Amino acid sequence: APRRKLAAGNWKMNGALADFAQIDALLAAHPDPGCDVLICPPATLISPMAQRTAGTPVQVGAQDCHQEEKGAHTGDIAAPMLAEAGARHVIVGHSERRADHGETDDIVRAKAQAALAAGMRVIVCVGETLEQREGGSTIDVVGGQLQGSVPDGIDGEQLVVAYEPVWAIGTGKVPTNEEIEEVHGFLRQALQKRFGDDTGAGIRLLYGGSVKPSNAAEIFAVPDVDGALVGGASLKADDFGGIIAAL
Ligand code: G3H
Repeated sequence: APRRKLAAGNWKMNGALADFAQIDALLAAHPDPGCDVLICPPATLISPMAQRTAGTPVQVGAQDCHQEEKGAHTGDIAAPMLAEAGARHVIVGHSERRADHGETDDIVRAKAQAALAAGMRVIVCVGETLEQREGGSTIDVVGGQLQGSVPDGIDGEQLVVAYEPVWAIGTGKVPTNEEIEEVHGFLRQALQKRFGDDTGAGIRLLYGGSVKPSNAAEIFAVPDVDGALVGGASLKADDFGGIIAAL
Protein backbone atom coordinates (compact mmCIF):
# COMPACT_ATOMS: atom_id res chain seq x y z
CA ALA A 1 0.00 0.00 0.00
CA PRO A 2 1.30 3.50 -0.69
CA ARG A 3 2.34 5.42 2.37
CA ARG A 4 -0.29 7.94 3.44
CA LYS A 5 1.20 11.40 3.83
CA LEU A 6 1.28 12.84 7.34
CA ALA A 7 1.34 16.45 8.50
CA ALA A 8 2.19 16.34 12.21
CA GLY A 9 2.18 19.47 14.34
CA ASN A 10 4.19 19.64 17.55
CA TRP A 11 2.99 22.55 19.64
CA LYS A 12 5.83 21.98 22.15
CA MET A 13 5.23 24.06 25.33
CA ASN A 14 2.91 26.46 23.54
CA GLY A 15 -0.79 26.92 23.11
CA ALA A 16 -3.89 27.26 25.22
CA LEU A 17 -7.59 26.48 24.94
CA ALA A 18 -8.03 29.75 23.04
CA ASP A 19 -5.81 28.38 20.27
CA PHE A 20 -8.40 25.73 19.41
CA ALA A 21 -9.83 28.49 17.23
CA GLN A 22 -6.81 27.84 15.00
CA ILE A 23 -7.90 24.24 14.59
CA ASP A 24 -11.43 25.31 13.74
CA ALA A 25 -10.00 27.66 11.11
CA LEU A 26 -7.73 24.93 9.77
CA LEU A 27 -10.67 22.55 9.39
CA ALA A 28 -12.80 25.23 7.80
CA ALA A 29 -10.09 25.83 5.19
CA HIS A 30 -9.20 22.13 4.75
CA PRO A 31 -12.29 20.05 5.52
CA ASP A 32 -10.86 17.18 3.48
CA PRO A 33 -7.07 17.54 3.85
CA GLY A 34 -6.11 14.55 1.66
CA CYS A 35 -3.45 13.49 4.16
CA ASP A 36 -3.30 12.48 7.81
CA VAL A 37 -3.26 15.50 10.10
CA LEU A 38 -1.99 15.19 13.65
CA ILE A 39 -1.54 17.79 16.36
CA CYS A 40 0.49 17.09 19.49
CA PRO A 41 -0.38 19.77 22.07
CA PRO A 42 0.91 20.03 25.64
CA ALA A 43 -0.46 17.14 27.72
CA THR A 44 -3.00 19.33 29.51
CA LEU A 45 -4.72 20.04 26.19
CA ILE A 46 -4.90 16.47 24.87
CA SER A 47 -8.27 15.62 26.33
CA PRO A 48 -10.12 18.81 25.39
CA MET A 49 -8.51 18.80 21.93
CA ALA A 50 -9.53 15.18 21.36
CA GLN A 51 -13.10 16.09 22.30
CA ARG A 52 -13.09 19.19 20.11
CA THR A 53 -11.73 17.31 17.07
CA ALA A 54 -13.78 14.11 17.42
CA GLY A 55 -15.26 13.24 14.05
CA THR A 56 -12.89 15.54 12.16
CA PRO A 57 -9.74 14.59 10.20
CA VAL A 58 -7.53 16.05 12.96
CA GLN A 59 -5.94 13.43 15.18
CA VAL A 60 -4.38 14.23 18.53
CA GLY A 61 -1.07 13.02 19.91
CA ALA A 62 1.32 13.45 22.81
CA GLN A 63 4.85 14.86 22.84
CA ASP A 64 6.33 12.31 25.24
CA CYS A 65 5.35 9.49 27.56
CA HIS A 66 6.94 7.71 30.49
CA GLN A 67 8.30 4.24 29.78
CA GLU A 68 6.50 2.58 32.68
CA GLU A 69 2.81 1.82 32.88
CA LYS A 70 2.33 3.45 36.29
CA GLY A 71 4.17 4.11 39.51
CA ALA A 72 6.03 6.58 41.67
CA HIS A 73 7.19 9.06 39.02
CA THR A 74 5.99 12.46 40.12
CA GLY A 75 5.12 14.71 37.22
CA ASP A 76 5.38 12.02 34.54
CA ILE A 77 2.54 10.70 32.41
CA ALA A 78 2.19 7.06 31.40
CA ALA A 79 1.26 5.96 27.90
CA PRO A 80 -2.08 4.36 28.86
CA MET A 81 -3.09 7.68 30.48
CA LEU A 82 -2.36 9.54 27.25
CA ALA A 83 -4.33 6.98 25.28
CA GLU A 84 -7.26 7.35 27.64
CA ALA A 85 -7.10 11.13 27.21
CA GLY A 86 -7.48 10.66 23.45
CA ALA A 87 -3.90 10.55 22.13
CA ARG A 88 -3.42 8.25 19.15
CA HIS A 89 0.26 8.97 18.55
CA VAL A 90 3.22 9.76 20.80
CA ILE A 91 6.37 11.60 19.76
CA VAL A 92 9.41 10.03 21.43
CA GLY A 93 13.05 11.05 21.38
CA HIS A 94 12.57 14.62 20.23
CA SER A 95 15.96 16.35 20.39
CA GLU A 96 14.60 18.76 23.01
CA ARG A 97 13.75 15.79 25.25
CA ARG A 98 17.11 14.18 24.55
CA ALA A 99 18.89 17.45 25.42
CA ASP A 100 16.72 18.80 28.26
CA HIS A 101 15.98 15.49 29.99
CA GLY A 102 19.00 13.35 29.16
CA GLU A 103 16.95 10.83 27.21
CA THR A 104 19.20 8.14 25.77
CA ASP A 105 18.37 5.78 22.91
CA ASP A 106 17.58 3.08 25.50
CA ILE A 107 15.07 5.33 27.24
CA VAL A 108 13.53 6.44 23.96
CA ARG A 109 13.15 2.82 22.85
CA ALA A 110 11.45 1.93 26.16
CA LYS A 111 9.08 4.87 25.73
CA ALA A 112 8.28 3.77 22.18
CA GLN A 113 7.53 0.27 23.46
CA ALA A 114 5.26 1.68 26.16
CA ALA A 115 3.36 3.78 23.60
CA LEU A 116 2.90 0.79 21.30
CA ALA A 117 1.76 -1.39 24.21
CA ALA A 118 -0.88 1.24 24.99
CA GLY A 119 -2.18 0.94 21.43
CA MET A 120 -0.78 4.20 20.09
CA ARG A 121 1.50 4.86 17.15
CA VAL A 122 4.95 6.31 17.72
CA ILE A 123 6.94 9.02 16.01
CA VAL A 124 10.60 8.34 16.77
CA CYS A 125 12.82 11.38 16.23
CA VAL A 126 16.43 11.29 15.11
CA GLY A 127 18.82 14.01 13.99
CA GLU A 128 22.36 15.31 14.14
CA THR A 129 23.73 18.49 15.71
CA LEU A 130 25.54 21.08 13.62
CA GLU A 131 28.85 19.93 15.08
CA GLN A 132 28.11 16.35 14.04
CA ARG A 133 27.10 17.40 10.52
CA GLU A 134 30.21 19.52 10.12
CA GLY A 135 32.29 16.63 11.45
CA GLY A 136 30.87 14.34 8.75
CA SER A 137 29.13 11.95 11.14
CA THR A 138 25.48 12.63 10.25
CA ILE A 139 24.75 9.15 8.89
CA ASP A 140 26.54 7.43 11.78
CA VAL A 141 24.67 9.49 14.36
CA VAL A 142 21.27 9.09 12.76
CA GLY A 143 21.90 5.39 12.12
CA GLY A 144 22.85 4.82 15.75
CA GLN A 145 19.79 6.67 17.01
CA LEU A 146 17.53 4.72 14.66
CA GLN A 147 18.98 1.37 15.69
CA GLY A 148 18.88 2.22 19.40
CA SER A 149 15.56 4.07 19.60
CA VAL A 150 13.26 1.94 17.44
CA PRO A 151 11.98 -1.21 19.18
CA ASP A 152 12.05 -4.66 17.60
CA GLY A 153 8.93 -6.29 16.25
CA ILE A 154 7.11 -3.20 14.99
CA ASP A 155 4.70 -3.17 12.11
CA GLY A 156 5.03 -0.51 9.44
CA GLU A 157 1.74 1.18 10.28
CA GLN A 158 2.63 1.76 13.92
CA LEU A 159 5.94 3.47 13.36
CA VAL A 160 6.80 6.88 11.96
CA VAL A 161 10.40 8.12 11.94
CA ALA A 162 11.09 11.86 11.92
CA TYR A 163 14.43 13.20 10.73
CA GLU A 164 15.04 16.50 12.47
CA PRO A 165 18.49 18.04 12.15
CA VAL A 166 18.94 19.81 15.50
CA TRP A 167 20.44 22.85 13.76
CA ALA A 168 17.32 23.24 11.60
CA ILE A 169 14.82 23.29 14.48
CA GLY A 170 13.39 26.75 15.06
CA THR A 171 16.29 28.39 13.24
CA GLY A 172 14.89 29.03 9.77
CA LYS A 173 17.76 26.94 8.39
CA VAL A 174 16.83 23.94 6.26
CA PRO A 175 19.12 21.30 4.76
CA THR A 176 19.43 21.13 1.00
CA ASN A 177 17.19 18.68 -0.82
CA GLU A 178 20.25 16.53 -1.44
CA GLU A 179 21.04 16.45 2.27
CA ILE A 180 17.48 15.45 3.14
CA GLU A 181 17.43 12.83 0.39
CA GLU A 182 20.67 11.30 1.61
CA VAL A 183 19.39 10.86 5.17
CA HIS A 184 15.88 9.71 4.21
CA GLY A 185 17.30 7.24 1.68
CA PHE A 186 19.61 5.90 4.35
CA LEU A 187 16.76 5.61 6.89
CA ARG A 188 14.58 3.73 4.39
CA GLN A 189 17.40 1.29 3.60
CA ALA A 190 18.24 0.74 7.26
CA LEU A 191 14.57 0.09 8.13
CA GLN A 192 14.18 -2.35 5.23
CA LYS A 193 17.34 -4.16 6.23
CA ARG A 194 16.15 -4.50 9.81
CA PHE A 195 12.43 -5.17 9.36
CA GLY A 196 12.26 -6.57 5.84
CA ASP A 197 11.45 -4.88 2.54
CA ASP A 198 7.67 -4.70 2.97
CA THR A 199 7.57 -3.48 6.55
CA GLY A 200 10.42 -1.06 5.93
CA ALA A 201 8.69 0.30 2.84
CA GLY A 202 5.52 1.00 4.84
CA ILE A 203 7.12 3.15 7.54
CA ARG A 204 6.51 6.85 7.06
CA LEU A 205 9.53 9.16 7.18
CA LEU A 206 8.91 12.77 8.15
CA TYR A 207 11.25 15.69 7.76
CA GLY A 208 11.23 18.27 10.58
CA GLY A 209 13.01 21.57 11.10
CA SER A 210 11.81 25.02 9.97
CA VAL A 211 9.14 23.70 7.61
CA LYS A 212 6.95 26.58 6.40
CA PRO A 213 4.38 27.03 3.63
CA SER A 214 7.09 28.66 1.50
CA ASN A 215 9.50 25.70 1.58
CA ALA A 216 7.10 22.78 2.08
CA ALA A 217 6.48 21.88 -1.58
CA GLU A 218 10.20 21.70 -2.30
CA ILE A 219 10.83 19.48 0.74
CA PHE A 220 7.86 17.23 -0.05
CA ALA A 221 9.25 16.62 -3.54
CA VAL A 222 12.26 14.83 -2.03
CA PRO A 223 12.04 11.03 -2.39
CA ASP A 224 11.14 9.22 0.84
CA VAL A 225 9.75 12.33 2.48
CA ASP A 226 6.25 11.27 3.54
CA GLY A 227 5.33 14.42 5.39
CA ALA A 228 6.57 16.81 8.03
CA LEU A 229 6.89 17.25 11.76
CA VAL A 230 6.14 20.92 12.19
CA GLY A 231 6.87 23.03 15.25
CA GLY A 232 6.32 26.78 15.09
CA ALA A 233 4.27 26.77 11.89
CA SER A 234 1.78 24.26 13.33
CA LEU A 235 0.39 26.85 15.76
CA LYS A 236 -1.21 29.03 13.09
CA ALA A 237 -4.03 27.80 10.86
CA ASP A 238 -2.72 29.68 7.82
CA ASP A 239 0.80 28.30 8.14
CA PHE A 240 -0.14 24.71 8.97
CA GLY A 241 -2.84 24.84 6.30
CA GLY A 242 -0.30 26.01 3.74
CA ILE A 243 1.92 23.06 4.61
CA ILE A 244 -1.02 20.63 4.39
CA ALA A 245 -1.91 22.06 0.99
CA ALA A 246 1.64 21.41 -0.23
CA LEU A 247 1.56 17.75 0.85
O1 G3H B 1 8.97 18.85 16.30
C1 G3H B 1 9.12 19.83 15.54
C2 G3H B 1 10.43 20.33 15.22
O2 G3H B 1 11.27 20.37 16.31
C3 G3H B 1 10.51 21.46 14.27
O3 G3H B 1 10.30 22.70 14.88
O4 G3H B 1 9.23 23.66 12.84
O5 G3H B 1 9.69 25.07 14.85
O6 G3H B 1 11.58 24.25 13.40
P1 G3H B 1 10.20 24.01 13.95
